[in-house]
Amino acid sequence: MSNARVAIVTGSSRGIGRAVALQLAKDGHSVVINYQSNASKAQEVVDEIHSTTQSCAISVQGDVGVLADGARLIKETLDAFGRIDVVVFNAAWIVYQSITEVTEESYEEAFRTNVKAPMFFTQQLIPHLTTGGRLIFLSTSLTSVSTVMPNYFLYTATKGAIEQMTRTLAKDLGRKGVTVNCVNPGPTDTDGFRHGKTEQQIQFFAGLTPFGRLGQPEDIAGAISFVASEQAKWVNGQILCVNGGMAVEIHFFSHLASIPPQHRAIAVQGDLAILADGATLVKEALAVFGRIDVAAINAALVSFDSLSNVTLESFEQVFEMNVKWREIAPGSTARSCVCYRRL
Ligand SMILES: NC(=O)c1ccc[n+]([C@@H]2O[C@H](COP(=O)([O-])OP(=O)(O)OC[C@H]3O[C@@H](n4cnc5c(N)ncnc54)[C@H](OP(=O)(O)O)[C@@H]3O)[C@@H](O)[C@H]2O)c1
Repeated sequence: MSNARVAIVTGSSRGIGRAVALQLAKDGHSVVINYQSNASKAQEVVDEIHSTTQSCAISVQGDVGVLADGARLIKETLDAFGRIDVVVFNAAWIVYQSITEVTEESYEEAFRTNVKAPMFFTQQLIPHLTTGGRLIFLSTSLTSVSTVMPNYFLYTATKGAIEQMTRTLAKDLGRKGVTVNCVNPGPTDTDGFRHGKTEQQIQFFAGLTPFGRLGQPEDIAGAISFVASEQAKWVNGQILCVNGGMAVEIHFFSHLASIPPQHRAIAVQGDLAILADGATLVKEALAVFGRIDVAAINAALVSFDSLSNVTLESFEQVFEMNVKWREIAPGSTARSCVCYRRL
């Protein structure tokens, strides 16, 4: 077995993941190409690595949202290469839906692929990561204050969770000598980005950077190559935007609207993790007051589990309670204030 560092790139048969896999192979890593369904595209990446670099590559089919597939991906990597140094959590579902189009099914699928998969895959990986290892998550520049966009409501909610996981895990895994960072691409020309958009919408996104073009997968791969490198060993817990200057970070403190004095009050029982209870709450408020202006979404489940203690059940309880129930009624005034209590 060679001494080369070993990288797993989830979702690397196409798009950004493919470019990352090719770049990490050029940098001298042995690379595991993970894919969901596109075996021939994954094999093309393996073949390209073998024909253009000195590095080794294998492809492993697996849906990263299925825990057993994650365990098999780790086993096949260890069987082939004997170690795991770098993991790029690239596979995701890029979902482009307005708040009214979001369904319980799309919510479940987005959080399954984009949040649950990286969380439990990390948990499975921890015993196997080498000292000097690198975990690299992918979020999106759409989480930046200056680039918040309509129709990315659900997608950016999942990516916000990834960014918080990055910060917390960087503290947890630093003791093990592993860095944890997140790379946030801007609009990048891939199948996932183009899906469901008109040419006019694509040109709109291209025009958002001062370069007047979309990012290319190789633009993102260069930044990930740096974060994976020895030179980046002191970069930890960071969110690195790679978007050609589309989003320029600013620090922003929102002013929560003050809640006007209450003249009348009603009490409504409801479990906010149940969508039907949320609908009842809105209905009863409208029936009594005829309008809703302020929704202070305060109820939340506080969890102090370390990653190794997180179970499927606790993961689902926390997300059901703290994320899923966030809809304001149709019929409320359009500029309602939604106050999320920060924990
Ligand atoms: N493109 C952008 O503009 C953009 C911007 C910001 C952030 N990002 C982030 O960058 C990452 C890559 O995006 P992309 O545009 O390159 O995506 P993409 O073109 O849709 O490619 C997705 C890749 O992930 C694989 N995949 C999807 N679901 C999977 C699953 N459940 N298990 C295993 N593999 C799975 C696909 O495999 P198959 O080929 O087998 O289907 C494919 O290789 C994502 O995390 C995305 O959120 C992208």
